[in-house]
Amino acid sequence: TTIPPFDPANVQGDILAGLPKKVQHYLLFQIDDNVQAFRQRLKLLIPLITTTTQVMDDRSKIAANKKAAQEQGKPAPLLKISGVNISFSHTGLVKLGITDDIGDSAFTAGQLADAQNLGDPGSGTPFVPNWIPAFKNPIHGVVIISGDSELTVTATQAIVNGIFNIGAHNATMHEVLTIKGQVRPGAEKGHEHFGFLDGISQPAVQDVDTKPNPGQETVGQGVILCGRDHDVVAGTTTPVARPPWALDGSFLAFRYLFQLVPEFDTFLKNNPIKSTGLTPEQGSELLGARLVGRWKSGAPIDLFPLQDNPAAGTDPSQNNNFRYDFPDDPKTQDRCPFAAHTRKTNPRADLEDLGFPTENRRIIRRGVQFGPEVTPEEAKSGKTKFGRGLIFAAYQSNIVNGFQFIQHSWANTVGFPIQKPVQPGFDPIIGQQTDLAIRTLSGTDPNNQSATLSLPAEWVVPKGGEYFFSPSIPALRSKFAL
Ligand code: HEM
Repeated sequence: TTIPPFDPANVQGDILAGLPKKVQHYLLFQIDDNVQAFRQRLKLLIPLITTTTQVMDDRSKIAANKKAAQEQGKPAPLLKISGVNISFSHTGLVKLGITDDIGDSAFTAGQLADAQNLGDPGSGTPFVPNWIPAFKNPIHGVVIISGDSELTVTATQAIVNGIFNIGAHNATMHEVLTIKGQVRPGAEKGHEHFGFLDGISQPAVQDVDTKPNPGQETVGQGVILCGRDHDVVAGTTTPVARPPWALDGSFLAFRYLFQLVPEFDTFLKNNPIKSTGLTPEQGSELLGARLVGRWKSGAPIDLFPLQDNPAAGTDPSQNNNFRYDFPDDPKTQDRCPFAAHTRKTNPRADLEDLGFPTENRRIIRRGVQFGPEVTPEEAKSGKTKFGRGLIFAAYQSNIVNGFQFIQHSWANTVGFPIQKPVQPGFDPIIGQQTDLAIRTLSGTDPNNQSATLSLPAEWVVPKGGEYFFSPSIPALRSKFAL
């Protein structure tokens, strides 16, 4: 069978383009027993689903609005933009009677069954992670609703509720939980809660992102979209066997990750890197940058190891243009600790120059922050009182190759990156182990690189998650809806 040519109008918009958002709700749902009725209502949702083509249109409108305002020297008026996407878990597919083997064992088993392997803290036999109850029961799917404001998103969610008759006597689904995220305010826009600019490094997708930034690697479409070129079994050129309706769908690894921000800040404050010419504040700032691999501004420490360069942090021509391949990079941690978060999760030349390609390990990260800003009281006490963190949402054609591998075999594996003169240790941001023991990494002190630093057991606390499949629009029409 010949595969139809790629058409962005067939792909749900969050995957390749990212739904534009100030606010984003994740409506986690269970399908009710009248499955045929659910399928009929799903048919009504399809025209509301934002495709890649529509997101690209929305983004052009946003850019034009901003430009026009700049030319008139006025602040840009807020454009009303809203977006809707839908994805299903394996239990959701089973509920719908869709039983084809879709070709991803992590998806089929579900994330609850994967929690121990991911290193999520928990206990017992069988193992139960320390998650909130909502995620310990089957979740059949998620509707992602995005927009320019809480008002727009709430209004759109009301339309979705109406379509599925949520809460009515003839409901076809019910809400398990809605997780509400929002971009951080003011100058913190685009920064995650520890304070670091996020969403900088994404793979460019072949024939979609046609003008990659310097240093941005292009991956085959099949690394993100099922059934496309390079959707292969890891380390081989063998295409993964998938049913025809999986074409142009993508797997979504969803994680509800709390961040202990006052605790993180206190640690940095108490453990500044001591070096001639550095004030304690600068030493703390440098430690933070070396844990993440970037300064809070986004500037990569592989390019700017000693001092931040805020202009470079937000400059796409500079902020991804590095590979950990300066002559001193492979064997020393002068510039960047081997275990820094960005190096662990995308080791670039550390693997590629040893002959191991990393193309099939790449993921596209979406997601958004949740929870309030740190209060003065929390900052003073160094203790989290209000829950906040990251709704992590990452797309890939293969969870086993992508998210699962990055978390388990890279972030949590102390010997990774391989072939280094000292043991790298845990990814200080997301590296974890089920028993909540102290974590260590080497190389945080550039003047004593084999010394290890002991970190608290967790700064990032996983409280739930699931693996979903985000079908193409044609698949939603022909396979999911009635
Ligand atoms: C990059 C923070 C969870 C994978 C980054 C960056 C920051 C960050 C600040 C640098 C910005 C950029 O390069 O785009 C966080 C925080 C997390 C978190 C605070 C938890 C609350 C995760 C998880 C994974 C992950 C769970 C996957 C298992 C990545 C990847 C990159 C990245 C692949 C890009 C690295 C590169 O290409 O250079 N993260 N992250 N992150 N993160 Fe995370």
